[in-house]
Amino acid sequence: MTLNISVIGTGYLGATHAACMAELGFDVLGVDVDPEKIDALSRGELPFHEPGLPELIRKHVDSGRLRFTAEVSEAGSWADVHFICVGTPQVKGGTGADLTYVDAATAGLVESITKDSLVVGKSTVPVGTAARLSRLVAETKKDGLNVSLAWNPEFLREGFAVEDTLRPDRLVVGTGSEADEAVLREVYAEALGRETPWISTDFETAELVKVAANAFLATKISFINAFAEVTENVGGNITTLADAIGFDTRIGRKFLNAGVGFGGGCLPKDIRALQTRVGELGLDHSMKFLDEIDQINLRRRKKAVARAFELLDQDIVGKKIAVLGITFKPLSDDVRDSPGLDVAARLYNAGADVAVFDPEGNPNAAKRYPRLGYVDSLTEAVKDAEVVMLTTEWKEFKALTPADLNDLVASKRFVDARNVLDAKEWESAGWTFTQLGRKFEG
Ligand code: UGA
Repeated sequence: MTLNISVIGTGYLGATHAACMAELGFDVLGVDVDPEKIDALSRGELPFHEPGLPELIRKHVDSGRLRFTAEVSEAGSWADVHFICVGTPQVKGGTGADLTYVDAATAGLVESITKDSLVVGKSTVPVGTAARLSRLVAETKKDGLNVSLAWNPEFLREGFAVEDTLRPDRLVVGTGSEADEAVLREVYAEALGRETPWISTDFETAELVKVAANAFLATKISFINAFAEVTENVGGNITTLADAIGFDTRIGRKFLNAGVGFGGGCLPKDIRALQTRVGELGLDHSMKFLDEIDQINLRRRKKAVARAFELLDQDIVGKKIAVLGITFKPLSDDVRDSPGLDVAARLYNAGADVAVFDPEGNPNAAKRYPRLGYVDSLTEAVKDAEVVMLTTEWKEFKALTPADLNDLVASKRFVDARNVLDAKEWESAGWTFTQLGRKFEG
């Protein structure tokens, strides 16, 4: 008999996990407290941009394998495995993780469970959370039922969420018993058949693997950006430097792209939550370096703004600046902690006339910063601009050539804040072309 699977929380993680579980052949019930989201998903509509996911959701809503509900009790009486996929954002007014949603989702679910089942946490949580929730499950489950908790962190990247979920590079499960591990082996049988590495461990390791991975990635980005601060001053080419060290397979070239730094709903809040958690444990010194990683990253945004000032001889008030790219990375409409949006807002607050264009992000950005000048095309953004700044490396921006902009802009000044264009090509077309990580001679 195949397992019935419920997924609690239908944001990026949950919606993707639910659709992919259906793709793997399971019957799946997605649960969310937001009835509007449930209605949209039930019609096969996705409230955010993720390539390939709407098609997969529609496919399995149509096949009948994927359903959505706002009633957690439906999941409690039906599913054999429940995945908790709710968010753990940065707490308001602090740096730790807000566990309100994970706690409420787990407590509400367990109350409604009426059959033997396994609750599996996928959300990114501070170490110690799984052990605490495991006790909660044991104490609050109905008498006579066999209900336990496991932790199975998720490593999906926005923009590649479906691919990462269907073909993960590793699976990590923290369980309290072999029986629980066996259930998860059944869930992930398809990936295991392809010899996907399977790491079976305790709760603490499973929780820490996730934050360690994100902290490492953040560190790699800030490492190269720290060198960008040096090359910006002494000269040198940061991209060549990254290429050269990246050939050492112990280092690797990935996540060594210098520029305006990392953003999004994961890396920034995860390094802050990790520091906060180890601080609570009296181990502040162990993760103190992450504070520097965060600071290096945030300085990149200020540097991008400073470059615009330099290009305009500090006279930025009323000058039109085109900001290309407002999402925290391409292939996403996510503007959470987005470097591009932060830079645009800083320029606006300094008095610039900011024209923002992003292929997917404008509506979300407008909800956060309604006053920026959002336009519907690249042409509109750059028309009569005094400075053009590239802040997210969307394909169409990476393909830009001087000829595309020469006749549109008021002045040929460019800040490539992602280091993706060919400086020589732009310079020889008469542009004052600058990149983060490159010395600006003025
Ligand atoms: C990140 C991790 O990569 C995933 O493995 C993890 O599962 C996910 O967080 C999560 O915790 O859920 P994601 O936030 O989708 O995924 O984005 P990344 O691809 O990691 O990019 C993060 C940021 O770093 C972006 O703003 C990107 O532009 C920036 N970045 C990335 C650089 O500035 N330089 C690089 O070389 C690479």
